[in-house]
Amino acid sequence: MQLSIAPPQTYSPAAPRTATPENSVSAITPQIPDVFTGQGYEDFKIAGCFYCHRIYDKGNKNGSNLSNVGSLLSYIQIKNQILHPTSSMPPSPDMPPEELSQIANWLEGLK
Ligand code: HEC
Repeated sequence: MQLSIAPPQTYSPAAPRTATPENSVSAITPQIPDVFTGQGYEDFKIAGCFYCHRIYDKGNKNGSNLSNVGSLLSYIQIKNQILHPTSSMPPSPDMPPEELSQIANWLEGLK
């Protein structure tokens, strides 16, 4: 019986990699949309919501992520969550209506 022996592989180094627009770091790193503006954002910050929540790179890294909350909940549902949360989140039943609307409006826009 004849053993067939594969010929030795020749080593050919990979072609040097060059950055193209498609594989450049900025193309593959998810861009953080510029959402951190406006009164709703300011109110969210002041109300301490970032203590438990994360939006993109801001807030508590272990907190629940609200970066796309506008795709999951409507404006009314977000308001309800703030006033009467169904989770361990502390309710804010006395939040002034103006502030509540601004926060809900801002969060609703995060898609
Ligand atoms: C003490 C911690 C804590 C604070 C402070 C807090 N939350 Fe929450 N929040 C939670 C938890 C826990 C949940 C439930 C997360 C889950 O179910 O994944 C939640 C859920 C939510 C949701 C629903 C998200 C979803 O996916 O269902 C919204 C909207 C929300 N919070 C907004 C706010 C806003 C606005 C504030 C500030 C006024 C705030 N939270 C402050 C803990 C907190």
